[in-house]
Amino acid sequence: MSTLAVRNLTVAYGRVNALEDVSFDVPQGKLVTLIGANGAGKSTLLKALMGSLPIHSGSIALDGTAIGHAPVVERVRRGMSLIPEKRALFGSMRVEDNLLLGAYTRRRRTDLARELARIYTLFPILQARRGQLAGTLSGGEQQMVAIGRALIARPKILLLDEPSIGLAPKIVQQIMEVVVALRREEGLTVILVEQNARLALRNADLAYLIELGRIVKSGSSQAMADDPDLLRSYLGSARRNECESSAVQGRAA
Ligand SMILES: Nc1ncnc2c1ncn2[C@@H]1O[C@H](COP(=O)(O)OP(=O)(O)OP(=O)(O)O)[C@@H](O)[C@H]1O
Ligand SMILES: [Mg+2]
Repeated sequence: MSTLAVRNLTVAYGRVNALEDVSFDVPQGKLVTLIGANGAGKSTLLKALMGSLPIHSGSIALDGTAIGHAPVVERVRRGMSLIPEKRALFGSMRVEDNLLLGAYTRRRRTDLARELARIYTLFPILQARRGQLAGTLSGGEQQMVAIGRALIARPKILLLDEPSIGLAPKIVQQIMEVVVALRREEGLTVILVEQNARLALRNADLAYLIELGRIVKSGSSQAMADDPDLLRSYLGSARRNECESSAVQGRAA
């Protein structure tokens, strides 16, 4: 069964459609990437999936249950977690308190220490910075806190909005390695939104290309990476924000 099934989704800001007739599937345990240029509708799509933006028409099903009109908290309870573009940390709270905020929907509170330890194993730098105010962290560290806060709720499906934005290639690589490992070792399902198509295709199983609010192309990451149109428009060698490092290896099998 597919974890997430989206059918004929339309989302509008006022009278302007930001997404039109969007349909796609995210199979259980796969890393799916949504790529597209600035303003294509990628963040809009993630917000609609998470429920922070209402849908105009169409449907969203998570594990066979219609959730297209469910409140955010209900989707969180069902295992969905979004790491937004702007990370949305509480800058004047300590790193560890930011992480613990992610656990508020968990019923059992006994294993929080173990959950924190797990996050610190994934991102050791956060353990060293656990008492520091989140607002004083570097951009990469803040992204790690945002991911850690999402993971502490033990999501089944993680929605990641441009985790690479503004970060050095080395940090991007470290973050992608964690995401790929979680997918491989724990069967986490991931939707990765990226403008950096090369980075996304190197790590994903499946890819969808969004242009002007519509899905215009889809396929395996390998097929998409070899697509001549895509190569010309999105994988050109002169792209800004490019992470050429080949060290993010091992497209999830
Ligand atoms: N709150 C809003 N009100 C009106 N229009 C909006 C709003 N948010 C986004 N839009 C518009 O919807 C379109 C899609 O925006 P969205 O943020 O989803 O793009 P994106 O693909 O995430 O782009 P980027 O790569 O720059 O983050 C854009 O034309 C944008 O201007
Ligand atoms: Mg965006």
